[in-house]
Amino acid sequence: METNKTFTMIKPDAVANGHIGAILDKITKSGFKIVALKYTALSAAKAGEFYAIHKERPFYSALVEFMSSGPIVAAILEKDNAVEDFRKLIGATDPSKAEEGTIRQLFAKSIEANAVHGSDSDENAQIEGSFFFSAFEKF
Ligand code: PPS
Repeated sequence: METNKTFTMIKPDAVANGHIGAILDKITKSGFKIVALKYTALSAAKAGEFYAIHKERPFYSALVEFMSSGPIVAAILEKDNAVEDFRKLIGATDPSKAEEGTIRQLFAKSIEANAVHGSDSDENAQIEGSFFFSAFEKF
């Protein structure tokens, strides 16, 4: 199990609002190396699959609809303690509760349109990275 990688998406709201460059800049300036990167979009079926773990939660349909509403940027990031450090960098799920200077505090509008995703464990980072990237797309 790799412990130095995490997976992220820049979500449709942040892409639509022109924040791709600023968010990638903040990520790299915070010490993360980008080892895979893709500008793409999730169909509703693919978003449903990606978020299947949240299937029973009340916001599942809204989350799937939102995540398939426009283009996203997917990336695998490398750094010591990547999962935990990246979750700190993005801040709380609800941007109104996110600490000053975090990506969600700076760029997110609401708990739904919250700018970025970050894996919550090493195991999920591996699964989620492989959902988007083949071995030939990781450097
Ligand atoms: S986590 O990562 O499991 O600790 O976060 P959690 O707060 O449980 O939320 C899981 C994902 O669901 C999104 N979310 C929501 N979407 C729409 N509406 C509401 N109310 C809502 N609450 C949470 C949240 O942004 C998480 O998405 P990701 O992509 O993992 O950030």
